[in-house]
Amino acid sequence: MFERSVSERQSESFASVEAAWKYARRVQRSRRRYEAFLKHLKALGITGRYLDVGAGTGTPAVTVAEDHPEVEITALELSPAMIQVGKEYVRSRGLQDRIIFVLGDATDEGTIEALGEFDIIYSTFSLHHWEAPAVVIRNLLNSLRGSGVLYLYDLRRVWWLYCIPVHKGFFASIRGAYVAGEIRELLGGLGVVSYEVKNEPPFLLSVIIRKAG
Ligand SMILES: C[S@@+](CC[C@H](N)C(=O)[O-])C[C@H]1O[C@@H](n2cnc3c(N)ncnc32)[C@H](O)[C@@H]1O
Repeated sequence: MFERSVSERQSESFASVEAAWKYARRVQRSRRRYEAFLKHLKALGITGRYLDVGAGTGTPAVTVAEDHPEVEITALELSPAMIQVGKEYVRSRGLQDRIIFVLGDATDEGTIEALGEFDIIYSTFSLHHWEAPAVVIRNLLNSLRGSGVLYLYDLRRVWWLYCIPVHKGFFASIRGAYVAGEIRELLGGLGVVSYEVKNEPPFLLSVIIRKAG
């Protein structure tokens, strides 16, 4: 079974509405962190049904919906507090008909199956929180349409981080993230062959998996 070589799993809490608001304010201020993701997503040029996994407070879903006016997004999220704040944000942007939040755990096969099939499934800054990433990735691949794409975008553990003696907040998140080699090992274990792992500066990672091929 796949195990990452980093020992620190990130334990950031998204349980309270207060924490969810704090998170929402922080990410809404730092849209630059999504730049590479949005660029690659646009280049993929996929229309239809989108699934956002670990959608949080809806920041990426809103931007994706605004960038791709023809798509509908199902926003799957584990934390009711994040969904509460996310729904408010989505409503404030008038996107409540195109972004539908669903409470659920991506680890659960039945939950993912019940959502139906998607043309693209993406996830931003959630992968390093998944307790069983291989199970989640397998579930998501099973829900992709034939020519569908699974796009995982996350933080990346970087060596120079260890020169910074801070183990809290954002630095804890980076310490808990994967490196490209670990992702290749994980995908190899699942028999996935058609994929690209890209290191994005300064400490980000894009993993683009094609179902067919
Ligand atoms: C750091 S936040 C990222 C939120 C959002 N994607 C963004 O970019 O702002 C990670 C989110 O993933 C959610 N999450 C973690 N594990 C999950 C799982 N197994 N199924 C669904 N959501 C999950 C957490 O509750 C949290 O809201």
